[in-house]
Amino acid sequence: MAAASPVRPAVLVARAIFPETVQRLRAHFAVEDNPDDAEWSRAELIRRLQGKAGALLTGTQRIDDALLRACPTLRIVANMTVGYNNFDVAALDAHGVVGTNTPDVLTETTADFGFALLLAAARRVTESEHFLRAGRWTRWSYDLFAGAEVHGTTLGILGMGRIGQAIARRGAHGFGMRVLYHNRTRLDATIEADCRATYVSKAELLREADHLVLVLPYTPQNHHIIGATELAQMKPTAVLVNIARGGIVDDAALAEALRTRRIAAAGLDVFEGEPAVHPGLLEVPNVVLTPHIASATVRTRRAMADLAADNLIAFLTQGRALTPVNAPRELRMAS
Ligand code: 8YV
Repeated sequence: MAAASPVRPAVLVARAIFPETVQRLRAHFAVEDNPDDAEWSRAELIRRLQGKAGALLTGTQRIDDALLRACPTLRIVANMTVGYNNFDVAALDAHGVVGTNTPDVLTETTADFGFALLLAAARRVTESEHFLRAGRWTRWSYDLFAGAEVHGTTLGILGMGRIGQAIARRGAHGFGMRVLYHNRTRLDATIEADCRATYVSKAELLREADHLVLVLPYTPQNHHIIGATELAQMKPTAVLVNIARGGIVDDAALAEALRTRRIAAAGLDVFEGEPAVHPGLLEVPNVVLTPHIASATVRTRRAMADLAADNLIAFLTQGRALTPVNAPRELRMAS
């Protein structure tokens, strides 16, 4: 009698991703995917997670106590994102489920985009393009779309993790900027020297920065960390860039600060309640708005998908995730 082939763990890929990555997963698992990128409700997601040992997620699916109770076979949730505010980490720990994210592979690409938004907002790139496309460019004038200087100014960075450091290096080494940063904890002197960055208080950062880039994780403590009070402390010529998460900035307060020119401009890739965008932001010309694409180069998105898949493969075949965000004391057992 032929030996029965071992049952392969079942895995759910919740959103459409690169077919090659799904193919790689199929070599190890029984995969259910979503090639049409159908919009699944939470109830639908929970239904499809029944019997699954792992899930590849894209950062928008909330993984909390209620979901983990309803999906008792789930052992690993692998985000294809570096931010993991969709995970209730305490609930993952309590249920013995491992969560993973995709650090490092998107750092430089995301930092590039932070600079793209800073340059576009400061130099009024999209605003002037709309003017040109509308056929309104009839003659040169000395102050036509005169914007804010970027090189040689003071760059403020709030949140000095990997991406914050990559932005600091671009500012210091590429644009000759003085770099100030604020972070929960001060960095080692060697990292500060490499980034040519100086640690300051949040108040000093707001006061001194010609341009402020937000790169901190979204946590309850960071909700609206930039609101009307903080915007009032910034220079009226300042540009604010948010490539972190919606909710870090009070978008209503920011729309008002842009409308009244309390600050000069903003570049935003993330929004409170996205894909909805605060109507006040859509009305003002001095903001560059992009649909959460800071990590979106083909190579980087591929690397993110592959790292999420590699986490599933490493954990479900060898018991060790590559980039876990938690370490439960007891892991859920394979059923
Ligand atoms: C993701 C991101 O593409 O990695 C992150 O945390 O914000 C982006 O790179 C995005 O979260 C997809 O939902």
